[in-house]
Amino acid sequence: MTIGVPREIKIGETRVSLTPSLCRRCVALGATVLVEKSAGQSAGFTDAEYRAAGARIAPSAARIWGAADLVLKVKEPLPAEYGRLRKGQALFTYLHLAANSRLATQLLERRVLGIAYETVDVGNGVFPLLKPMSQIAGRLAIQVGAYFLQSQHGGSGVLLGGVPGTMPGHVVVVGAGNSGAHAVQMAAGMGARVTVLDLDTRKLEAIDMEYRGRVVTLMSNPANLEHEIADADLLIGAVLIPGAKAPQVVSRAVIKRMRPGSVIVDIAIDQGGCIEGIRPTSHQEPVYTEQGVIHYAVPNMPALVGRTSTLALTQATEPYVALIAEKGLTRALAENPALTAGVNTQAGRVVCPAVARALGYS
Ligand SMILES: NC(=O)c1ccc[n+]([C@@H]2O[C@H](COP(=O)([O-])OP(=O)(O)OC[C@H]3O[C@@H](n4cnc5c(N)ncnc54)[C@H](O)[C@@H]3O)[C@@H](O)[C@H]2O)c1
Repeated sequence: MTIGVPREIKIGETRVSLTPSLCRRCVALGATVLVEKSAGQSAGFTDAEYRAAGARIAPSAARIWGAADLVLKVKEPLPAEYGRLRKGQALFTYLHLAANSRLATQLLERRVLGIAYETVDVGNGVFPLLKPMSQIAGRLAIQVGAYFLQSQHGGSGVLLGGVPGTMPGHVVVVGAGNSGAHAVQMAAGMGARVTVLDLDTRKLEAIDMEYRGRVVTLMSNPANLEHEIADADLLIGAVLIPGAKAPQVVSRAVIKRMRPGSVIVDIAIDQGGCIEGIRPTSHQEPVYTEQGVIHYAVPNMPALVGRTSTLALTQATEPYVALIAEKGLTRALAENPALTAGVNTQAGRVVCPAVARALGYS
C-alpha cells in the first residue's frame, strides 16, 4: 500500500494531511509513504522530518498521484487536479460533493473510490473527522467577524465586548452544533450579547445549561430568525444536514434588514452556504459587500491556523489512516462501518444516500 500526500493547492491552504508522527506509524505498519516536497511546510513540518519518519519525498504532485494507491489530502481536488485522478485509485479527503457536482462527475467517470472525511460516521450524529475542523471554524468565525466589524475594514465599528456604559455587539449564531457551539463560546467569552438558534432542542438545552442565561437560545423558525438577525452585528451561519446541501435558512430579505457594516460569516459555505445567494470567497479576497452587509464565506477557514488545524485533523484521521495502512482498503472498509459511511463514490456510483439525493442520483 502506497500512501501519497500531495501539497494542498487551494488558495491560502496551509494544512497537510499527514504529520511526521502519523507517517512514522504508517511506515511501521508496512505502508510506503510518499510526501510531496514542501507539503508540510506551511504547517511547520519540514521534509527532513518526514524523511526521518520513513517517508520518501517526491519532487512533484504528478509523482504522488501517479504512484499512490491512496491519496490522502485535506481539501477536495481542484480542477487542476482532476486530470491526475486515476481509475481504481482511492482518495481520502474532505469532498463536500453535495455542493460540487462537477467533482462528483469526475470521480464517477474516473471510477475513483472517494472517501469523504465529512461523512465518516460513528453513529448518534457524530462525524469525528468533521468535528475538529468545525470547532476551529466556529472559534475563528468570531475572530474573523470581530476583525471585519472594525471601521478600517468597512465594518460598523462595533466592539463585540463593548465597554462599560455601551451596548456590547449582538452575535447571532444559526446552528448550535460543533461549529455553532464553539462560536457561541468565543462570542460569550468576549462579552458579546449572544443568541443561538437551532431546530434541535437538545442542543439548545445543553447551551442553556452551560451558560445559565448568559446566552439566549431560540427555536430556529422564520419569525425568530427574522427578529434576531435584523438586530445582529455579526451573523454566523453554522447549520448542517449531514451529506446534504446546506438548507438556505436566511433569506436576502432578512439580510436587507441588517444595519450597514454588519458582518455575516457563513461557515456552512462548504456545503453551499445557508444564506440565500451567498457565494464562496477565498483567503485572497475573503469578503464582499452586498446590501451594505459584509459577507465572509471562505470554505477552508481552518487554513488560517494551519498548525493547530493540521494537528487537530490528523489526530482525528489517525485511527482510520492507520487501519488502512495496516490492513489495506478492502479489509479496513469491511471491518469499520464508520469508515464505510465515508465512502461517497465507488466503481462509478454515488453510494452515500444523502449525497446521491443531493446530486439527483437517487
Ligand atoms: N468554512 C469552513 O472552513 C468550515 C470548516 C469546518 C466545517 N464547516 C462546515 O460547517 C457546517 C456546520 O458543521 P458542524 O460540524 O457544526 O455541524 P453540526 O452537525 O455539528 O451542527 C449543525 C447544526 O445545524 C442544525 N440545523 C440544521 N438545520 C437547521 C436550521 N434550519 N436552523 C437552525 N439549525 C439547523 C442542526 O440541528 C445542528 O445542530 C458544515 O457545513 C461543515 O462542513 C466549514
